[in-house]
Amino acid sequence: MTTTIREPKTPSPEKYAEQVGQRPYAQQVRKGDFDLTWCRAEPGEGVWGQWGIKAEPSRRGMTLMDIEEASGLSPGPQGPASVAPRGAGSEPGLGPREWDLNEKHELWADNLVALYEEATSRQWRATEDIDWQLIESLPPDLERAACQFNTFLTMGEYLVNDVLAPWLPAFNTYYHEIKLFLATQLMDEARHTEVFRKRIFANGGGLGMTLNLGNALAAIGATEMGKGARTSCSRPGTTSRTPSMSSSRGRSCRCSVSASTSARPTSTSRSSGW
Ligand SMILES: [Fe+2]
Repeated sequence: MTTTIREPKTPSPEKYAEQVGQRPYAQQVRKGDFDLTWCRAEPGEGVWGQWGIKAEPSRRGMTLMDIEEASGLSPGPQGPASVAPRGAGSEPGLGPREWDLNEKHELWADNLVALYEEATSRQWRATEDIDWQLIESLPPDLERAACQFNTFLTMGEYLVNDVLAPWLPAFNTYYHEIKLFLATQLMDEARHTEVFRKRIFANGGGLGMTLNLGNALAAIGATEMGKGARTSCSRPGTTSRTPSMSSSRGRSCRCSVSASTSARPTSTSRSSGW
């Protein structure tokens, strides 16, 4: 019997460093040939965005509202085809970047910054903010029920993050508010997973049965909301579009889906076993 040793798909850190070092730009930098465009350009010439802004912290500290008020960089109705943060200039020659969601009416809520500030100011740690020592011993059937329920809840948290996470790269960076807030929500869902898993092992029980969530969701009618979410598109190379959060617009491809509660169809959702 022979054993075939395959090259790992991911190079080792040493190999990767070697590969990176061979790139023309890396070699240029290592010779001391730095691009100092950012340093030499004067504010206002297109490389820089704004300059000379000094925001003042408010009662709660330096909030997103405070810097927006000082900079006057309120979001307009449409983001540019660029990776530029709102208000930034661009490196000369920087190429365009298309985003799935570019228009304010597709992704905006007036309380996004407030929700983000609230999310970051009310963090807690399941590790120490729950007194795990206080859990009382339960009869075996109740402990089994608790563990089965928490196993189910854990699956639900995975599902939520699998649905939410693919939206993150869909939003234009021009609208950082939605990106920041969504990141806090993902963190929150991760913490829920943490709490439920810790509860499972905190009282003498263990992981329960993996449920068919599709059946469970169908039983309560939840899957009705996602019907039609996965659409096919005749355009070569296109598998799906981001779910429309409002109305469909004049896109080159009109295969957007109308179910706002569905996952953005990506490889994640296509292969999902939920
Ligand atoms: Fe959750």
